[in-house]
Amino acid sequence: MPPSDASYRACVATSEGKARHLLDALSESFDSTEVVVAASEDQNGLWTVSLHFRDPPNATAVRALVGLAAGPETANALAFERLGATDWVEASLQGLTPVAAGRFIVHGAHDRETVPANRIGIEIEAALAFGTGHHGTTRGCLVALDRLAMRPARGLGANARVLDLGTGSGVLAIAAARALRRPVLASDNDPVAVRAARANARLNRARALVEVIRADGFKAPRLHARAPFGLVFANILLGPLKRMAVSIARIAAPNGCVVLSGLLAAQANAVLAAYRAQGLVLARRIDLDGWVTLVLHHSLPGTSASYARLRRAMRRRVGVGPVAARRHGQ
Ligand SMILES: C[S@@+](CC[C@H](N)C(=O)[O-])C[C@H]1O[C@@H](n2cnc3c(N)ncnc32)[C@H](O)[C@@H]1O
Repeated sequence: MPPSDASYRACVATSEGKARHLLDALSESFDSTEVVVAASEDQNGLWTVSLHFRDPPNATAVRALVGLAAGPETANALAFERLGATDWVEASLQGLTPVAAGRFIVHGAHDRETVPANRIGIEIEAALAFGTGHHGTTRGCLVALDRLAMRPARGLGANARVLDLGTGSGVLAIAAARALRRPVLASDNDPVAVRAARANARLNRARALVEVIRADGFKAPRLHARAPFGLVFANILLGPLKRMAVSIARIAAPNGCVVLSGLLAAQANAVLAAYRAQGLVLARRIDLDGWVTLVLHHSLPGTSASYARLRRAMRRRVGVGPVAARRHGQ
């Protein structure tokens, strides 16, 4: 992102709880190519939420949004300033606090040296793609991955592949490559995210394992060519997650694992029902900052819908079982 003549910032100091709430609410409200929302914590535990604008903001409208999310006191305390010539995206991520999730620490370049040797550091470059690790949905997926990496599930054998659908900054794909040492296919329908994910994979020396493609949902043939996947991440939103239930269940290996995120607590049951109908059942639920991450497994072999389909197809191929029996009139 080239430096511009000027950029604009609005900041407010607040509590950790309000900072996280504001981060979620404001990230949803603004177009991330125009406004970058960040939260950081100083050495004294004080939190600051900052909004970086490419163009002069409408202060009244911004205050109204902050007021809705965190109350009138926080909205009134919001301070606006014009910054000099700067790369506004870079500026927005300066001072971003490293985020810990399980063994992972997601950080910016300025914190590279601070990652303890026993943690897996993931460096995310200043960019417009979603996925600095601060959002409860990303952290939920990282916590789920950490657990899966410690106790590899049935589907995560040595040859298993990983799919990160809606990769954003590539943070989950990179984390999976680093923790599991398995090939990862990362896809996004946003070209900005695809570029960011490739750059971040290179930065984290994960390019050999992480392939990033531009794809809208399941439309890319490459996605099907690489299936089945022992582990699938999809941190998107309620609507797409429900629509994708059939495709995700199909592309996951019969004994694979699916991690879904991007859901509010009240939406989890609707998604669970859609995936249960495809033979995927809940193994673990992670609640963070009002967001829910669901870890699903195919139900026991022999009872999952797709496994049952597979068994029927196998019977047909070898000419045994109920299908063959009917055909022979027995
Ligand atoms: C909430 S972000 C998640 C980013 C990252 N995986 C993380 O966990 O932080 C969702 C990403 O999904 C992408 N996305 C949304 N709909 C999509 C679709 N139909 N196909 C592919 N990617 C999609 C968006 O562009 C965005 O980068």
